[in-house]
Amino acid sequence: MEKLEKVGRHGREKLMPMFANRLLKNARHFGKWARRRHISCYRIYDWDLPEFPFVIDCYDLHIHLQEFETGYDMQPHLHALWLDEVKGIVGSVLNIQDKAIFCKWRPRHGNRAELSLAASASDRFVVTENGCRFWVDLSGKLDTGLFIDHRNTRSLVAKAAAGKRFLNLFAYTGSFTVYAAMAGAQSSLSVDLSHTYLDWARENMALNRIDPLPHQFLQVDILRWMDERSEMNHQFDVIMLDPPSFSNSKRMDRVLDIQADHVSLIQGCLSMLAPDGKLFFSTNLRRFRLDEKILSGCVLFEEITKQTIPEDCHRRAHRSWILTHRRG
Ligand SMILES: C[S@@+](CC[C@H](N)C(=O)[O-])C[C@H]1O[C@@H](n2cnc3c(N)ncnc32)[C@H](O)[C@@H]1O
Repeated sequence: MEKLEKVGRHGREKLMPMFANRLLKNARHFGKWARRRHISCYRIYDWDLPEFPFVIDCYDLHIHLQEFETGYDMQPHLHALWLDEVKGIVGSVLNIQDKAIFCKWRPRHGNRAELSLAASASDRFVVTENGCRFWVDLSGKLDTGLFIDHRNTRSLVAKAAAGKRFLNLFAYTGSFTVYAAMAGAQSSLSVDLSHTYLDWARENMALNRIDPLPHQFLQVDILRWMDERSEMNHQFDVIMLDPPSFSNSKRMDRVLDIQADHVSLIQGCLSMLAPDGKLFFSTNLRRFRLDEKILSGCVLFEEITKQTIPEDCHRRAHRSWILTHRRG
């Protein structure tokens, strides 16, 4: 955006067609790519041009447009005009009506409290991905119910969970659980702090006609749950640990900071992981450093980020690892 301001009106007119061309090229390419894979939600623009700090996702016939804070202080009226122009281009290039474009502002240090959680049933619709169906909602919170950048991770975890006991920590709307259950997981436990998201997860399971009996849901603060359970009596063969970078809900005793807390979370997972089990761990924190020094004593780890970032997400949206018990 800074560059955009500096180049002035004349240059700005030049940049808009550049943005439109890039969007058109990507939309054509990834549209075909997604149709071949029976995917109805995919990324068509991933901050490809530095002057246009957006991530634009297609959810069926709807567009989710996130604008990222760059630190450049644009005057509000200029910003509004610019955003209108950008939205106009998105609408005309993709042939989408204005009301189907949902714009979100993504602050650097996500103040999610400003965003409304309310979502009426009519705002939701169903998308499909690799034979699984999910309710999504683009109108409420910043997040939609389905993280596009974890599509490959979901497939990997599902493959590992076939016929196994699966634990989904920080389960959110249960997309990993749906994949695991659809792949034939023997049983699952999905754990999250939020009743709202766990209800959403149950609805996703029902949408896929999954037998509810072997699949349980638990609403707890995972930090407290792990602290209080000195001895984990359940064992799991596959665990997905995908916590937020930071969380400070009123329902929690203490703040979750993934950099500071990842070792204890991973150790808690290891105490529940079967001897031949696999722990998948992922984080969105860009500056994250896995504490290899402490962990290498008890665990083997392999970074799998290259496998888990999908083709339509160019920027590294997350990092991920597989961890297994060190033997002997
Ligand atoms: C980044 S999302 C997890 C995404 C999810 N793994 C997926 O890909 O669909 C964060 C989730 O963590 C949950 N959460 C945050 N702090 C928590 C805590 N202390 N205990 C349990 N869940 C928590 C939130 O309610 C939210 O559903």
